[in-house]
Amino acid sequence: MKQGNTSLTLTTQYVIDQAMKMLYTAGEIAKKVQELGEEISQVYQGTELYVVGILKGGVIFMSDLVRQINLPVKIDFARISSYGNADRPQCDVKIVEDIRETIQGKHVIIVDDIMDTGHSLYAFKKHLEAKGPTSVKICTMIDKTARREATLTPDYYGFRINDGFIVGYGLDFAEDYRSLPDIYVLDSNDRRDPL
Ligand code: IMP
Ligand code: MG
Repeated sequence: MKQGNTSLTLTTQYVIDQAMKMLYTAGEIAKKVQELGEEISQVYQGTELYVVGILKGGVIFMSDLVRQINLPVKIDFARISSYGNADRPQCDVKIVEDIRETIQGKHVIIVDDIMDTGHSLYAFKKHLEAKGPTSVKICTMIDKTARREATLTPDYYGFRINDGFIVGYGLDFAEDYRSLPDIYVLDSNDRRDPL
């Protein structure tokens, strides 16, 4: 990355350097997360939830979401390899790190940043279902529909978009931008080659 003008914020410098366009502000995201938390609290009223965050992209969304759920919640994490550092999906999905606790008889919600082709979450959902939970649902911040291949749609989602490469709020491009509080679309003419 170029050395930025130090009087600009990091985000502003990214917007200039990488031709990023703001898609959803931190405020819009927070409102959406609150609504999702309220909806989930209602649907699962009287039960305990087991929320599985997908490393790394789902972690920021998950940490905000669980604090908006007014129910007893246990959390765990899993790591699925799908993209590597390229921006095309592999159909060969690997569960690199599995959850640690037993989920038999539990209500599970998988939380991730985005559903794109759907291959990784399809495979992970099947993997969890084989462990005998009462239910497994999927919640993603972004539902990106244009390239969907798996027969799957998120049960809960924050924003639905057609296409475009999105960064910020956990979403990365070659590991950059995850910590940005807002969500941006990267200008497709200005994408760097993956590492
Ligand atoms: P899927 O298996 O094709 O649904 O892709 C899952 C993973 O691809 C997500 O968890 C992201 O890590 C990555 N991905 C897909 N689209 C985007 C995007 O627009 N920005 C950043 N990562 C993305
Ligand atoms: Mg990712």
